Amino acid sequence: MTADHYVLPKLANIPADVIAICDYERLAKEYMPHGIYEYITGGAGDDITLNGNRRAFDAIAMNMRVLRKFTQGSTAMTLNGEAFASPLLVAPLAYQALLHPEGELATVAGVNAVNMGMLTSTLSSVPLEDISAQQQTPKWFQLYLQPNAEHTLDLLRRAEQANYTAIVVTVDAPVSGLRNRQQRAGFSLPAGVVAANLRDYPQAKTQALAQGQSVLLNGLMADAPSWQDIQWLCEHTELPVWIKGISHPQDALLATQSGCAGIVVSNHGGRTLDGLAPSITVLPSVRKAVGDALPILLDSGIRRGTDIFKALALGANGVLIGRPVLNGLVVAGALGVAHSLTLLQQEFELAMALAGCQSLDDIQADCIHLTT
Ligand code: FNR
Ligand code: LAC
Repeated sequence: MTADHYVLPKLANIPADVIAICDYERLAKEYMPHGIYEYITGGAGDDITLNGNRRAFDAIAMNMRVLRKFTQGSTAMTLNGEAFASPLLVAPLAYQALLHPEGELATVAGVNAVNMGMLTSTLSSVPLEDISAQQQTPKWFQLYLQPNAEHTLDLLRRAEQANYTAIVVTVDAPVSGLRNRQQRAGFSLPAGVVAANLRDYPQAKTQALAQGQSVLLNGLMADAPSWQDIQWLCEHTELPVWIKGISHPQDALLATQSGCAGIVVSNHGGRTLDGLAPSITVLPSVRKAVGDALPILLDSGIRRGTDIFKALALGANGVLIGRPVLNGLVVAGALGVAHSLTLLQQEFELAMALAGCQSLDDIQADCIHLTT
């Protein structure tokens, strides 16, 4: 593995002026070559959805409740019978060796320190077995369905054997989004950064196209997964199968009918279809569609503890944290990951205290109101 793409030596300590996630964002730019920065930070197209995610959180106002002394405060959460100390989980994030010589293993060290769940990506740069061996907190595996069903099944069995406790199938990227920023920057994976889990699976041949057929609509989409594949997957494992990348209430209902154990409302951090509505905006309709039948996690744009509070008030059980983890990782390694997640947890606890909420169940729709 070459280390040419690391810009600066890692900090031994976190600079004193890093006190919120936005400070890591500011610093992270100096710690990455431009191409990697654009890959990590960018959205699709014109960043409309990326920016919309933030704007939508900011437009939600909170209600303060006063004189509500409590002594049994807790952020504990249970999902499908599995206990979590916090509603924050680390989102699946590909190729973390882009940001740190130890890649995902550095992230896991940070996650262990703060006792939060983490999802390992199919596209991790360290094998899923090695990550699992280090992780001491709830470990879930994010699965990209492979064009070849045998490869998918093999990944599933490997995840089961490595003691992952849930499978999260990401369904919102059957083809890659239009990543104009990384294209402009000429980004490509540096030598030595690979999808370690997929090394033994030869690429399936794409179908030959007749003249006039579209590479995308007739070629790539012919290999794309379907609802039948989700049902098939649910039938092939005892583990709870979640589905990540839901933004339409009808799809949430189909997920329920397909045997899924939970839903991740997500627009992939604005990285797939530019122009999608913010995740936080579509969350209430998804919750309404599934009722109490399934737990829901939400991601895309969470940068403050108050964002987490707003997501729970609008119907999420918990949240996934994406880019803030990567920025912590590149600036200060495992320590930066632990610090970034701690900042969000502490801000979330502060929001709970000032809104008079002792438990996650107390965070209901009457804790907030929409101003727009
Ligand atoms: C991602 N995301 C992602 N999702 C997934 O299911 N599998 C993956 O391998 C990746 N890889 C990935 C890499 C990078 C660099 C980013 C920024 C994102 C999406 C991720 O899980 C999550 O949905 C978003 O990051 C959430 O948005 P925020 O918190 O980054 O705004
Ligand atoms: C991304 C893919 C790997 O968002 O999910 O970059």
